[in-house]
Amino acid sequence: MIVARAESDFSDSLIEALRRARHLVAFTGAGVSAESGIPTFRDAQTGLWARFRPEELATPEAFHAHPKRVWQWYASRREQIARVKPNAGHRALVEIAARVPRFTLITQNVDGLHRAAGSRDVIELHGNIMRNRCSAENVVIDTPVVSNAEPPPCPHCGAPLRPDVVWFGEFLPIEAMNAAEAAANECDVFFSIGTSTQVYPAAELPFTALRAGAMVVEINKDSTPLTEVATFSLRGASGEILPRLLRAAWPS
Ligand code: OAD
Repeated sequence: MIVARAESDFSDSLIEALRRARHLVAFTGAGVSAESGIPTFRDAQTGLWARFRPEELATPEAFHAHPKRVWQWYASRREQIARVKPNAGHRALVEIAARVPRFTLITQNVDGLHRAAGSRDVIELHGNIMRNRCSAENVVIDTPVVSNAEPPPCPHCGAPLRPDVVWFGEFLPIEAMNAAEAAANECDVFFSIGTSTQVYPAAELPFTALRAGAMVVEINKDSTPLTEVATFSLRGASGEILPRLLRAAWPS
């Protein structure tokens, strides 16, 4: 494992591979938004799942049993996300995208911060918290995101609206997952950034890329199940490491 603390800490082979990359995939998780002020899920103490029980808030059963409670929890997360801005990690990915022939951004995050930073064609595997969909018909409903005390009714069928995010026990959007798997199989460099690599099927993507022969670079504050097998593991905050990698590989 490589611990990178300054530009000169990056190995020559890593920097050379970045300059030669034909298709670079960046796969991100909650850690990339942590420096914007959004809590991750699994960090001890501060992670959302250290403070809340996912089965009470992030399953279809929980929504069915307690729609108001689930809606209000998402409303408070929406308010928090609406107040924050993309950070240096999100911005560095926009810059990196402009320096490689092909770039694919796959995120598990529902906060929309990659797009707010200027990234285009973001593959959102777990949906987007700022959209609503009908809980009965499963179609996205283009309503303003409101922070009502309870879920508003679908304008077509009257069923309660829900946030358009993937909950535990639900399938990922098929088109997004297919596009992500294709990119993991085709790329020559795969960045796994700020994800605990624990939630499947998304967590399979870095391993798919490894099996397909890509160079896999993990950027994370802590170790994960990917760390031992990654080609490079860069330990630290993505908002610091990504801008340094950008400067080291493509000095302007
Ligand atoms: P986790 O909370 O599981 O993992 C966040 C990872 O980011 C951890 O490995 C941290 O060490 C790391 N981290 C924290 N701050 C960082 C920073 N500044 N720079 C780099 N790394 C940092 O979040 P995810 O892996 O995204 O699902 O979780 C996956 C899914 O589980 C989420 O999409 C969500 C959750 O339940 C849904 O909402 C469906």
